[in-house]
Amino acid sequence: MKKGTFVVLAAVIIYSGFALPEAGADNDGSHAHGSHQRHMKEMGDKTDDKTGEVPGGETREEMHQKDERTSLGLSPMMKVHQLANMREHLKGVHMIIKGIASGDFEQASKTAHKKLGLTPEMKKNCAMMPSPAFVEMAMAFHHAGDELGDVLLTKDAAKSLSALEGVLARCTSCHDQFRQ
Ligand code: HEC
Repeated sequence: MKKGTFVVLAAVIIYSGFALPEAGADNDGSHAHGSHQRHMKEMGDKTDDKTGEVPGGETREEMHQKDERTSLGLSPMMKVHQLANMREHLKGVHMIIKGIASGDFEQASKTAHKKLGLTPEMKKNCAMMPSPAFVEMAMAFHHAGDELGDVLLTKDAAKSLSALEGVLARCTSCHDQFRQ
């Protein structure tokens, strides 16, 4: 063996000797990772046969469920109109939050009444919807919108946010229940 080769070889051996503790730590790390993966796999296996649980909380059933919300059976024209209305509602929420954040409560109040409240136009739109249960939810939502408009005039941010939360709860519960 040439002297140079020996030196290099020795250096490699010494280096790996010094590096061992660290390499051991790494191994531990990857072992933990490996066992985590095994654990996830076990959970995955369990999913197939037993509980239906998957990492992340949803059951497999929920992940694969079809849309079981009540369909309103709207005509194509009404569908377009209804979604446009919805987008206006979201714009309203956006403007209201902007108003609260910047301290412009008057503007936020006007927006609440105009975009979320029960305007004559909204009343007319809602009356055209085919489901009484939907109309009831829609009316309650618009009343909450007008209430929010009134609360905003107190210029109390916490109260305003709480009222806005009440409105948003009505958005989401209707979305949970109905589709076009
Ligand atoms: C009374 C029922 C009801 C209320 C209240 C309601 N929505 Fe909707 N919204 C619907 C339905 C039905 C759809 C259509 C969903 C579908 O077919 O999947 C919809 C769709 C939407 C869409 C999708 C629009 C698009 O162009 O695709 C947005 C955004 C939306 N709603 C925002 C809101 C917001 C924000 C609120 C409250 C401030 C709200 N909605 C309140 C029933 C409601």
